[in-house]
Amino acid sequence: MQTLAGDFRRQDRTVAFVPTMGYLHDGHLSLLAAGRQMADILVVSIFVNPTQFGPGEDYDNYPRDPERDRRLAENAGTDVLFMPEKDQLYPEGYETYVTQTHLPKHLCGLSRPTHFSGVTTIVAKLFNIVKPHYAVFGEKDYQQLAIVRKMTADLNFDTRIVGAPIVRESDGLALSSRNKYLTPQQRQSALSLNRALAEAQRMVAEGETRAETIIEKAVQIITAQPETEIDYVRICDPETLEDAAVIDHPVLMALAVHVGQTRLLDNTMLALQSGEQQ
Ligand code: PAF
Repeated sequence: MQTLAGDFRRQDRTVAFVPTMGYLHDGHLSLLAAGRQMADILVVSIFVNPTQFGPGEDYDNYPRDPERDRRLAENAGTDVLFMPEKDQLYPEGYETYVTQTHLPKHLCGLSRPTHFSGVTTIVAKLFNIVKPHYAVFGEKDYQQLAIVRKMTADLNFDTRIVGAPIVRESDGLALSSRNKYLTPQQRQSALSLNRALAEAQRMVAEGETRAETIIEKAVQIITAQPETEIDYVRICDPETLEDAAVIDHPVLMALAVHVGQTRLLDNTMLALQSGEQQ
């Protein structure tokens, strides 16, 4: 992969890269479509990265279907499908990690304290291998996108990070490889995440500016559903991820909820209509 990447750069062919952990769904395919459009070469990686899973998380059971993934990636116009083995990226004696000091201390980082150093480590390694001009990440994992943007700037990677919008089922559920764990009843409960965000948008459109009031309502909507347990519901600055008490500029509303054993994420931006800005 490094030799190929070096050749592409020497031949002045631009490379768009979509890193994934496989079990591709329409959300991933939208990232591949975005990458396909922006560069000469589309590289997709599939690697279930052990360092971003904490103890007791679902690394061993993470859904995998390499043959189906291979077909889907090929149909989406992938030029190079990179599927390294665990021992190639983390050989025995591996001991170097990329950590960030501030952004991982918020949102998902509070309940998954080692997760983002696993993400920044693998993404930095993949960037060094694939040497992409562009790398596409989904906005569903908003904190990951913010952290990767910051790492890319801080470490001077020659790569432009592109965010791609959340893809949803027709009933509003954000696509995720983990949705496959949900029973039909849990899937019904999971719809409350998107409903809570839609209600927040409605409240803000009607002039509500207090984050606390909007969060309270979201908590009510989600906890009214069976088998839900909230990890967090936060309204925060989209760059620093610090809590915002008042919606006086565009803010991020992000949530993480366990539905049964499955931890789901969703988010949206909240902004007052122009003319309502304080
Ligand atoms: O979003 C993911 O699938 C993973 O976190 C990533 C970016 C591929 C790193 O393992």
